[in-house]
Amino acid sequence: MTKNKDWFASWFNTSYYHILYSHRDYSEAQEFMQNIARLLTFEKSDLLLDLGCGKGRHSIYLNSLGFNVIGADLSKNSILEAKKSENERLRFIVQDMRKPLRLKYDVILNLFTSFGFFEDDKEDIIILQNIKNGLNLNGVAIIDFMNVKKVISNLVSEETQVIQGISFKINRYIEDGFIVKEINFDADGKHHTYFEKVKLLDLHKIKTYLNSVDFKIKHIFGNYQLERFNEETSDRLILVLA
Ligand SMILES: C[S@@+](CC[C@H](N)C(=O)[O-])C[C@H]1O[C@@H](n2cnc3c(N)ncnc32)[C@H](O)[C@@H]1O
Repeated sequence: MTKNKDWFASWFNTSYYHILYSHRDYSEAQEFMQNIARLLTFEKSDLLLDLGCGKGRHSIYLNSLGFNVIGADLSKNSILEAKKSENERLRFIVQDMRKPLRLKYDVILNLFTSFGFFEDDKEDIIILQNIKNGLNLNGVAIIDFMNVKKVISNLVSEETQVIQGISFKINRYIEDGFIVKEINFDADGKHHTYFEKVKLLDLHKIKTYLNSVDFKIKHIFGNYQLERFNEETSDRLILVLA
């Protein structure tokens, strides 16, 4: 695969992506959801949207806490997998976040760096506008993004991870305002090269996006325990918007 601008539509839809990230921390994701639901006093009658839900790890957990949840993702394969967990109060749909949302929600979550994949800033802004338009009165949005400053200062430029018998050779570098992760491996009788590219969006730049759609920041947190954001030390940049 070449480093095309729509890399996210193919890589996230492969089984190899899910193998590489199979060690994802479910307990940390669950603790985050508990903390955020408590802080923002989610109601059982609220309708929640997990936008960029992947296979639905946050959606499934939020539903298990009693909430009414829709998970949405561009990846058909991830949604097919997530659909195995559907029930009356948990649905999964294929949706491109760059397209307007069809329903209104009390809470819209965009979690674990499901933003910043797009070359053109206009697409990032359209997504924020879609989220804002998709909120009910008094609705809130939560964007959980990486803290780019910390990611850059801790960048591991080369590493190999062997997972489920596949040796993933990973190179990370900064190029044209993006953090690029180049992933090379042999599997199923072929050599594969995939790229992840996430835009270097710091708080200052995100604020300019938010201003342009008149989205207000209610809280800024730096980790899943909802501690204060510090640009030098925080692992995450978590924004609560209204
Ligand atoms: C880093 S993963 C996070 C997945 C999930 N939130 C989690 O924590 O496991 C980013 C997700 O965003 C989805 N995605 C990428 N571009 C998208 C788009 N344009 N519309 C909707 N989802 C998209 C990918 O398919 C992928 O599942």
